[in-house]
This record gives sequence, structure tokens and C-alpha cells, in this order.
Amino acid sequence: MLKLFILIALSCSINSIWADTPFKDCGSELGTIQSFTVTDCPTAPCKFEKGKTYAMNLTFTAKAPSKTASVSIHGVIGGIPVPFPLPDPDACKMNVKCPVNQNDKNEASMSLPVLSSYPSISLYVKIEIKADDQHQDYACLTFPATITSGSGHKRNLVGWKKGKLFEMLD
Ligand SMILES: *[C@@H]1O[C@H](CO)[C@@H](O)[C@H](O)[C@H]1NC(C)=O
Repeated sequence: MLKLFILIALSCSINSIWADTPFKDCGSELGTIQSFTVTDCPTAPCKFEKGKTYAMNLTFTAKAPSKTASVSIHGVIGGIPVPFPLPDPDACKMNVKCPVNQNDKNEASMSLPVLSSYPSISLYVKIEIKADDQHQDYACLTFPATITSGSGHKRNLVGWKKGKLFEMLD
């Protein structure tokens, strides 16, 4: 009976660790990140297939108010940030309640279309939710990803050193 209980407790805790996408905070001056999940990405690096759109949920608490907030996404390739064009960066239209008050907890629901025109490369994706009034970030995070042209292309995962995914950011 006790063994069964331990087994259940273990599998629950493993599940909750694996459900979130591994990320690194890159200076969330005006907030605290609570959780971050990307479709089909419980382990790093995230594998993004061209032609698909990935949903991302980022939950954060705010340390300061702001009338509006906006989302910015960059691909960091060889240390150089390249903007991912967003049709509408307004975070208030991505489930964030605006105006944002101090201590508010919000979940931003974003989507990342991976266009067929993108190159097959490994990169860091940097997501920022900006407090427009303060010009600082409620949330800033980066995570490693590989863009592939299909599920069978294993060799496209080159570019990452096993166990060193996040060290490369420092
Ligand atoms: C994001 O949140 C929505 C609504 O809570 C949920 O339906 C969806 O599965 C979530 N997606 C991810 C990738 O966590």
C-alpha cells in the first residue's frame, strides 16, 4: 500500500516537472514568471516543425501597474536577436487583463507560427511581455529550439551540446 502511494506521488511530481517547458529568465524587472508551457515541448530543445503553429502560455505576476502590455518575440541566432513578426503584439488581446495592476496574476496565451520560409536551424527563442507604461519587462525568458522541416529530420537537431543548452546563454 505504501509502495503504491510512493509510486503515485512520484509519477505525479515527474509529470508536473515535465509539463513545463524548460526556460531561463532573462531579466523580468517588473514581474515574476510562474509557469511557461509550449505545445509538445516538455524537454529542451523544443522542436518546431515548419508549417505548424505552436501555442505558448506564460503565467506571470506583476510588480507594477501598466495600462497596456505588449509581446515581443525574437529568435536569437549566434547571439544576434532577430524579431519574429507578430500580426498584433497587444498582450491585452492575448488573455492579459488590462490595465494590469500590481500583484495581478495573468496568463498570456501566445501563438508562434513557424513559417515554411524559415531556415532549419537551432536558435534561442526570446519572449518578452512588456509593461508599456514603464518600458520594462513583466516577463523575459529564453528557451532553446530547433526548427525542422519534418519529424523525420533528426540530423537537424545538430547545434546543441547535450547538457549544455543553457550554458551557451551566459
Ligand atoms: C494554454 O492554455 C489554454 C487555456 O487554459 C489551454 O487550452 C492550452 O492547452 C494551453 N496550451 C499550452 C501549450 O499549455
